[in-house]
Amino acid sequence: MLDDVDIDWTASSRLTSFVDVCTLFDRVFAEPPYRWGQVQSERHRTVLASRAEEPGFMLVVARVANCVVGAAYGFPADGRWWQDVHPASAAESDTFTVSGLAVHQDWRRLGLGRSMLEQLLDGCGKARAAVAVLPNAIGAQRFYSNLGWQVIGRKHLSPTSPFEFLEIYSVMLDNL
Ligand SMILES: CC(C)(COP(=O)(O)OP(=O)(O)OC[C@H]1O[C@@H](n2cnc3c(N)ncnc32)[C@H](O)[C@@H]1OP(=O)(O)O)[C@@H](O)C(=O)NCCC(=O)NCCS
Repeated sequence: MLDDVDIDWTASSRLTSFVDVCTLFDRVFAEPPYRWGQVQSERHRTVLASRAEEPGFMLVVARVANCVVGAAYGFPADGRWWQDVHPASAAESDTFTVSGLAVHQDWRRLGLGRSMLEQLLDGCGKARAAVAVLPNAIGAQRFYSNLGWQVIGRKHLSPTSPFEFLEIYSVMLDNL
């Protein structure tokens, strides 16, 4: 079934699928435990548009007959990203952070998430990759654990956030 999927790496300057990618994220992250509504959807559009302008941003998009069924994106982790991560020793400048990853419900457990992630990280030029995952996003936690990523710390969130922290997973890359 994965043979029907085209996975393309897209530079930010060619972010032609922006609307389709955002629509996919709205649909995927409307599910529990995320339960995005209008506010989160709009925030995601703003953040993605701004991140896409930053140096080192990378996006891969998976399409079936021109329909976006998956997307993954990220950027080099800077000091802002590591803020409030404990232990502080987990912070490492030579890290690429996976900031968004979504696979359409009908295309799960076929290896698409794994393939997109490999393509995203392949050649990102960093020694390590990291991702922040909600503590109750069990599917995502198992996905990263089963791909060999390990918990290296927690990112503490503001008291107004619905969650106290995010788990930080990381993996060493061998694509340098
Ligand atoms: C997490 C997500 C991206 C995984 O995508 P996917 O294409 O289904 O993942 P893959 O098929 O490549 O899975 C690779 C391996 O990860 C593990 N895995 C993936 N999803 C899993 C789940 N829900 N429960 C347990 N293990 C899981 C399995 O070991 C799987 O291999 P297997 O199917 O041979 O057992 C997808 O479920 C998704 O979009 N979830 C909602 C959004 C989300 O949580 N994004 C991550 C935010 S940090």
